Amino acid sequence: MSVSAPLSTPESMPRHVAIIMDGNGRWASQRHLPRFAGHRAGVGRVREVVRVCSRRGVQVLTLFAFSSENWRRPPQEVDLLMGLFIRTLQRETRDLHRNNVRLQIIGAHGALPERLQEQVRLAEAQTAQNTGLQLVIAANYGGRWDIAETARRLAEQAVAGAIAPAAITAEYFGREVCVGSLPEPDLFIRTGGEQRVSNFLLWQLAYTELYFTDILWPDFGESAFEEAVQWFSSRQRRFGRTGEQMDKAQVV
Ligand code: IPE
Ligand code: IPE
Ligand code: MG
Repeated sequence: MSVSAPLSTPESMPRHVAIIMDGNGRWASQRHLPRFAGHRAGVGRVREVVRVCSRRGVQVLTLFAFSSENWRRPPQEVDLLMGLFIRTLQRETRDLHRNNVRLQIIGAHGALPERLQEQVRLAEAQTAQNTGLQLVIAANYGGRWDIAETARRLAEQAVAGAIAPAAITAEYFGREVCVGSLPEPDLFIRTGGEQRVSNFLLWQLAYTELYFTDILWPDFGESAFEEAVQWFSSRQRRFGRTGEQMDKAQVV
């Protein structure tokens, strides 16, 4: 029996999965390949996870593709990543559209290369009316940026008299951050062995189940995803209540 917001997908399935796709560089190094080979291999896994999520009725899939801190990498790697991003959007948008996937990019768009921004606009516009899986790609995204940006926007609205400062509650704020209009992430997955959030969805992860695996992203396939979902379905999500309350399942 459901104890959080009503679910339209089976309870064991997360409505929103958020993934830090980490380990591409190490995957490549293990094979004596340049780091970029790992990023390229990672794209194939994105395709696979999108397909599985669509099929399994996941409503939202948010993928961390490039953090606001990833600009600190060698310029050559950054350039290659941006190029890969552009080509992937060019190649995949039509298929995503055909599969009824709606694409949205979150992050500070303005700092991305102009060609990528253009590609993002096209892909978002082409898939805007789709009603299937909502695929969110975080590019030049940082959780602190997201929160600060929301605070700045709301402050501007308050100064302009459009909203009262007292209206800015946690609930209100939570609807204004990135993906705030969508179900909150139920399951967070980080591949690559690190157990940290690395400035991903800081606000949105407040009650998300956190799953860490040593599998490197280019090796993370359907069965690894299913294992994460299996683990998720074994968690008791209490949202502050007691285990006894949940067992009785009297709270809705
Ligand atoms: C994640 O893989 C991809 C991006 C951050 C773009 P990494 O490139 O961080 O791979 P590792 O952590 O060095 O193995
Ligand atoms: C997080 O991975 C960002 C993405 C996967 C896009 P990083 O590899 O950049 O994270 P840190 O630096 O190890 O924390
Ligand atoms: Mg990494």
